[in-house]
Amino acid sequence: MDKKMVNIEKQRSAIGVMLGLIGMIKPLLGIMFIAILMGCIGNLMATFITVLGGVGVSSLLGYFPNISLKVVFAIIIVCAVLRGILRYTEQASNHYIAFKLLARIRHQVFASLRNLAPAKLDGREKGNLISIITSDIELLEVFYAHTISPIAIAVITSLVMSLFIGHYQAGLGILAAVCYVIVGAVIPIINGRAGQAYGQEYRSIYGKLNTTVLDNLYGLDEILQYQKQQEREKKMEGFTQQLEQVNHTLKKKESIQRISTDTVILLAGILMMVCSGAMAERGSITPGEAIVCTIAMMSSFGPVAALSALSNNLNQTLASGNRVLNLLEEEPMVEDVHSEVELPTGDMCTQQVSFAYPVENHPSEKEQILKDFSIHIKRGTIHGILGKSGCGKSTLLKLFMRFYETDSGKVLYGKENVNDIDTKRLRDGISYVTQETFLFEDTIENNIKVAKADATREEVVEAAKKASIHEFISSLPQGYDTKLRELGNSVSGGERQRIGIARAFLHDADIILLDEPTSNIDSLNEGIILKSLLEEKKDKTIVLVSHRKSTMGIADEVTQM
Ligand SMILES: Nc1ncnc2c1ncn2[C@@H]1O[C@H](COP(=O)(O)OP(=O)(O)OP(=O)(O)O)[C@@H](O)[C@H]1O
Ligand SMILES: [Mg+2]
Repeated sequence: MDKKMVNIEKQRSAIGVMLGLIGMIKPLLGIMFIAILMGCIGNLMATFITVLGGVGVSSLLGYFPNISLKVVFAIIIVCAVLRGILRYTEQASNHYIAFKLLARIRHQVFASLRNLAPAKLDGREKGNLISIITSDIELLEVFYAHTISPIAIAVITSLVMSLFIGHYQAGLGILAAVCYVIVGAVIPIINGRAGQAYGQEYRSIYGKLNTTVLDNLYGLDEILQYQKQQEREKKMEGFTQQLEQVNHTLKKKESIQRISTDTVILLAGILMMVCSGAMAERGSITPGEAIVCTIAMMSSFGPVAALSALSNNLNQTLASGNRVLNLLEEEPMVEDVHSEVELPTGDMCTQQVSFAYPVENHPSEKEQILKDFSIHIKRGTIHGILGKSGCGKSTLLKLFMRFYETDSGKVLYGKENVNDIDTKRLRDGISYVTQETFLFEDTIENNIKVAKADATREEVVEAAKKASIHEFISSLPQGYDTKLRELGNSVSGGERQRIGIARAFLHDADIILLDEPTSNIDSLNEGIILKSLLEEKKDKTIVLVSHRKSTMGIADEVTQM
């Protein structure tokens, strides 16, 4: 099996990212269409309010003898009111789409994380993930609400305005079209090219800063003990400075773009005035029409200028989109099995299993952890596993959980290969206590109930007693309702382990896998736990990984790895 690692840095073209992101919008195309329609009509009305003003003034000068000033003003007022309503509808539709979509994308990202876990997430930088889940997805709001429809609106309104000006004189229409293209496409594309790398760099440094901040929080004790404050501070400062520099460059590019856009808009107005004036002089259009064309040109750059400003953020948005799409497209290393095959109640064993963890970017440097390893674990027994640190004990349990697939050889439950057993049933049928119990920021009761959501308080207490943690919990002022604090540092290592063991007892599966369950627990409490395990073993299979002789004492059989 090809063990490809997560490639979050895969680059795709700007168009590729946009198409990918638009692909997600299919169910909302109707509302998107409304947003664009409202935006187009609204922007055209804004332009024509100015143009009508010009017509009004020109009619005062006698250029439009058969147009009544009153009618012109009445139309202007109607346009102005409608403009407001249309703008509101446009914005409301855009935001509706954006938030619907963000919810969808979040859902997809979490679903994909669940698929990738744990095999593909083991090695990945947590900070990068956090920034994808938080700021990257958030930035996509900009894309959906403030990118797609502005582009469509700019294209449509420019087309309408070019046709409007062109219906007086074709040449003037072409001139207008060229100006729109320069402001709305040429400048943003040139600028976008120049800024794209910086946008990506910005996001990447941001991810690293996130990782560092998390490291600092989790490793605060170590940092204090080894007096690494200054070093850590320097590291953060380095990233902050890099961010600032990239940001500075981005801002500089932004202002250059703004200046060039404004200059082109100004020149376009002057050019239109000169050309239409010359044509009026030659008599191919009336002076009134020349004024209308000039005002129409000057007042219609709104939508394309908005596009121009948008390209600055677009770089960052596309970089974010790129990362989100990469994550969504990532294939899980181990696919869940959906089948009718139940977890059999029999012996469990491995036959000549070989396994190596995938190494990111250097597949040739894979280090063999297990080689032709076979073990037979009888049902109804406690099977101890001994071995020096790093020899692959935890890895073996993960292969039994099918968190990873073997490179060769078989993992069997009864006669069934683990790769044929329905993954959900497999995991339901196993209580697995990991080497490091993770505690959620929630009450102790809920932390134990992770193993069985619908457990009653009695069941939770029962499990806690077996894990020898009930007395400790009862001694807390709020008992089982005590909230575990952020980062889970509020309980001792032994208490944490015992909560993990309580989960396993509550889950009450036929197979119990215990990875160094009592390494931090004193002999008194360990005694209670081991006694509980002995009582459980009658119709269960218990695999016990441990260094300690006292723990191994209860094992019916011991395998040295
Ligand atoms: N996700 C991973 N990616 C790459 N290498 C890994 C991964 N997890 C573990 N390893 C490596 O595989 C080897 C076996 O790890 P494992 O956790 O199975 O050892 P262990 O026998 O449980 O050790 P200990 O007694 O210290 O818990 C170690 O060298 C470890 O560094
Ligand atoms: Mg281990």
